[in-house]
Amino acid sequence: MPGIVRPTAYGSPDVLRVFEQPIPRPAADEVLVRVHAAGVNPIDWKLYSGTFHAVDDSNQDSFGLSLDSLPALGLECAGVVTATGADVTGARIGDEVIVYPVTAAYAEYVTAPVTSLIPKPATLTWPEAGGLMLTGTTATHTLHAVGLGRGDTVLVHGGSGGVGLMAVQLAVAQGATVLATAAHRNHGLLRELGAVPIAYGPGLLDRVRAVAPDRVTAAVDCAGTDEALDTSLELVADRRRIASITGTDRRVHAGIHVIGNGPGQDMGTDIRHAARADLAARAGAGELRVFIDTCYPLHEAALAHKTGIAGHAPGKLVLVP
Ligand SMILES: NC(=O)c1ccc[n+]([C@@H]2O[C@H](COP(=O)([O-])OP(=O)(O)OC[C@H]3O[C@@H](n4cnc5c(N)ncnc54)[C@H](OP(=O)(O)O)[C@@H]3O)[C@@H](O)[C@H]2O)c1
Repeated sequence: MPGIVRPTAYGSPDVLRVFEQPIPRPAADEVLVRVHAAGVNPIDWKLYSGTFHAVDDSNQDSFGLSLDSLPALGLECAGVVTATGADVTGARIGDEVIVYPVTAAYAEYVTAPVTSLIPKPATLTWPEAGGLMLTGTTATHTLHAVGLGRGDTVLVHGGSGGVGLMAVQLAVAQGATVLATAAHRNHGLLRELGAVPIAYGPGLLDRVRAVAPDRVTAAVDCAGTDEALDTSLELVADRRRIASITGTDRRVHAGIHVIGNGPGQDMGTDIRHAARADLAARAGAGELRVFIDTCYPLHEAALAHKTGIAGHAPGKLVLVP
């Protein structure tokens, strides 16, 4: 029987196991997809690691979830349609597709509503297609939130991460001057993409001012550190031109855009949905690159998560079931 990766408890990646599951049946408005690549994202380990919620002695977390309700993992993938529900039009068996949004994509087979399908550009590899959408739509939403346009100077914190690399490329394409923080070893890549790389860490504010003496007009925080927030607040006068994709309490109360699905945060569902075709087109045309760090088979999902948690992979981690 085909496999699916699930957590068996709240905890470290060592709780992940591959289970056998019958091939799922699509509902009337769904398709069945044979998954060729599933993007790995920090939300995946946050869902079972206790990041969002403490777990008590009875295995209830603060949302009232118990072990029985441990999440299925995998919020984006790409693959081939192998069956269609009775009411499906516009998708056929054999179609190569990107599937986003989706749940439970850490699997050999997944079902998804037909509205989640985007044709896979033939020029993209399976890992590129499977790792494009979550970061791409998040970056699009974030740049939209700060109203980015030609003539802006934007500071992207965490510019070498999954979302950061997308934000950098999309902001450059929009005609903005892009400053991006990253570890030194990633500065060459950021330069290649048209950004001005800056090392994060003590003295960041001075380093930004040295390369952008006039002003920074917008900031995008993909790093989630106090330093990223404090530097953004110091440099950008208009707080509505600052956005963070990490939802700490300080950020929610700072008057900036907080992108996400927690209280007081903006999910941007419509913007993200609408962005998918454009992202696929840009990536297919080679104008938007999806950087792949490492691909893992399903049974190495725990290793993929440990690598992700370490936090410095320059590109996407992808499962290839
Ligand atoms: N709200 C949303 O909708 C949404 C969507 C996607 C992701 N997120 C969240 O956004 C965060 C980033 O996601 P991601 O997929 O881009 O993660 P990622 O691919 O793991 O990238 C994280 C990046 O952070 C950089 N970094 C590490 N320490 C840093 C520091 N002290 N200062 C500045 N940058 C630092 C690393 O760059 P170096 O290797 O150069 O050090 C790394 O590339 C995660 O917390 C994730 O959960 C939110």
